[in-house]
Amino acid sequence: MDYKNISLEDEGGIYLLTLQRPKALNALNWETIEELNMALNVIMESKAKVKGLIVTGSGDKAFAAGADLKHFPDLGYEGGVKLSRQGNEVFSRFEKAPFPVIAAINGFALGGGLEFAMACHLRIASDRARFGQPEAKLGLTPGYAATQRLPRYIGKSQALYLLLTCEMIKADRAFQLGLVNEVVEHERLLERCREILNTIGDLAPMAISEIIRCVNAYYDPNMDGFEEEVQSFGKCMASEDLQEGVNAFVEKRKPGFIGR
Ligand code: CAA
Repeated sequence: MDYKNISLEDEGGIYLLTLQRPKALNALNWETIEELNMALNVIMESKAKVKGLIVTGSGDKAFAAGADLKHFPDLGYEGGVKLSRQGNEVFSRFEKAPFPVIAAINGFALGGGLEFAMACHLRIASDRARFGQPEAKLGLTPGYAATQRLPRYIGKSQALYLLLTCEMIKADRAFQLGLVNEVVEHERLLERCREILNTIGDLAPMAISEIIRCVNAYYDPNMDGFEEEVQSFGKCMASEDLQEGVNAFVEKRKPGFIGR
């Protein structure tokens, strides 16, 4: 697949997706969002085991400095609704991916950039990362669900503070607020993300995807998360991997899971 705005590498079951617009601080234009969607299709269609996906930004400054705002003045109501819906649909697909998705936040994660990171399951930040939702400075609300996901991560009060003041915060503050899982030295960022995916990759794949599904169900008003968990528990209980996991425990050896 030829991409113009991103790159996708398969490192043996761990995929590395990199936003490739460093001169525009990896701003997310229409085409980039489409390519993110295509890349996700490629990974979903993979016949080999997928341990997980790392998304990051190219260059030494930014993960993504938001939606590409240069075309905003021409969009109007219809264009704005379309842009927002497109991003929301694509980012929700990352959130619902049946394998873990980690945002490796290597620099600025602003506006749509932070919203993309918030749609990932985990966020690991470089000590150089900076976070913010500066939309109100531009005369906008967020469009890729910061008003929805930010309160879920850091609570309504702190979310409103960041959204209303447009303040940019550093990685240690993002960690204190619960917005990122870990802060690591810039040079160790990708290595740490690979380490986490390898740890998860040793666990039972069906259990991992069901956990992601059930946690997402908690936040979906159309789903009963408690019932989803009951069903997932039953499904995993009937799996070959449950037999293997329990046998391995009893025999004091490492399990070899097969994903069914
Ligand atoms: N869209 C398009 N281009 C962008 C961009 C964006 N969001 N952010 C940065 N760029 C471009 C700049 O225009 C500049 O390009 P030129 O060299 O051609 O002028 C290049 O990237 C480098 O940027 P700066 O010179 O501004 O770099 P800096 O180090 O001085 O500042 C920054 C860095 C603080 C991140 C600053 O670029 C900035 O504030 N960017 C905009 C951030 C923003 O407002 N993001 C929200 C966008 S709206 C949104 O995301 C809506 C939504 O929810 C969907």
